[in-house]
Amino acid sequence: MALDRSTPNDLSAFWMPFTANRQFKKNPRMFVSADKMHYKTADGRSVLDGTAGLWCCNAGHNSPRIVEAIQKQAGELDYAPAFQMGHPVAFELANRLRDMAPEPFEHVFFTNSGSESVETALKIAIAYQRAIGQGTRTRLVGRERGYHGVNFGGISVGGIVNNRKYFGTLLAGVDHLPHTHIKENAFTRGQPEHGAHLADELERIVALHGPETIAAVIVEPMAGSTGVLLPPKGYLQRLRDICTKHGILLIFDEVITGFGRLGSSFAAEHYGVMPDMITCAKGLTNGVIPMGAVLATKEIHDAFMQGPEHMIELFHGYTYSGNPIASAAGVASLETYKEDGLFERAAALAPYWEDALHSLKDHPHVIDIRNEGLIGAVELEPIAGEPTKRAFSAFLDCYDHDCLIRTTGDIIAMSPPLIIEKAHIDQLIGTLGDTLKRID
Ligand SMILES: Cc1ncc(COP(=O)(O)O)c(C=O)c1O
Repeated sequence: MALDRSTPNDLSAFWMPFTANRQFKKNPRMFVSADKMHYKTADGRSVLDGTAGLWCCNAGHNSPRIVEAIQKQAGELDYAPAFQMGHPVAFELANRLRDMAPEPFEHVFFTNSGSESVETALKIAIAYQRAIGQGTRTRLVGRERGYHGVNFGGISVGGIVNNRKYFGTLLAGVDHLPHTHIKENAFTRGQPEHGAHLADELERIVALHGPETIAAVIVEPMAGSTGVLLPPKGYLQRLRDICTKHGILLIFDEVITGFGRLGSSFAAEHYGVMPDMITCAKGLTNGVIPMGAVLATKEIHDAFMQGPEHMIELFHGYTYSGNPIASAAGVASLETYKEDGLFERAAALAPYWEDALHSLKDHPHVIDIRNEGLIGAVELEPIAGEPTKRAFSAFLDCYDHDCLIRTTGDIIAMSPPLIIEKAHIDQLIGTLGDTLKRID
């Protein structure tokens, strides 16, 4: 069956995620193909991808190894049961992921998304504590302005007001650290100086509930989705130290920061602070096929490997955990990152990216600029009484001028594929600069 590549006449059936549906359907923005750094629109324009899709296409689009791997795998083994059966590609991917990750991470549990990785890590944390005789440790600690996907565990440990407003009381037994986004750090290049002390709030939470009640702390080492909020210097190490002192597991949610975004395999390596688990997704398959993973230390994994051998050790899993086609896409993605030196490339381009971003400092509406690796954010002064409107206008204007950016609140976030060239950076930042002068 030939698919219609133009804009369909009827857009009503598809209820689009995290989208202003009515606005979109009046004036659709439709991508029909993509190659390397560009999307092609239904009306034939080439749009520069300033966001790697949704922070996920780190090797750019239509990457040949990945496309070939998927095609080959689909014709060889399309699906194998994920429970009590195996297939070689999932093991291959797990091994490669272990080899790419920092040293303590020896085991990999596959999921299908970042949200599922978060749920999985939270469940492993609670079950691990029980397995080592710490069954009273069931509380979870997240952080204000944290984003950990859209499922109930993730929105509970996350710190986004709309999730509380729309979805009720969420999980009980969850506390939140304060976020690390403080005014003194405005226009900092890279990691900010001020705010390491905010990690000490964990001591207050521990004192309030007792350490014997807390299973895990989960944070994004660098919060992406709520506007690129960087960890102040020393902050992550302090969190690590407090967790270790009190027997609390530390989980880094690296769904955005994994796979080279900051110039290393994971942010844990970039910042030199090791958590006990890492959640990832997105760049694991270059965004091409849904897949996520939880990386766990040997200590955590081995704590489950007890009891009769015919018994299931972790009562958890998904129909598509380690799906063959997703695994093949994962193997090809990791190979592409390695063979093409994309993490090193991101690290090498980061200073140019930083300079380009900060050149927007004196443009209209700009109240802060932040960057790390190949991530950048430009925060705009909100229009009084109409939050998010100004940034959304910037998004639409950039799109009309052939650049894809992303917005969250009144913050513009950019995270281009790691294959980006300096000329593309000039185009992206130049277009955004012109946009800021054009919009109200
Ligand atoms: C840190 C973090 N965790 C979890 C998620 C959720 O991932 P997904 O949309 O694949 O469920 C995201 C998505 O952006 C994320 O940034």
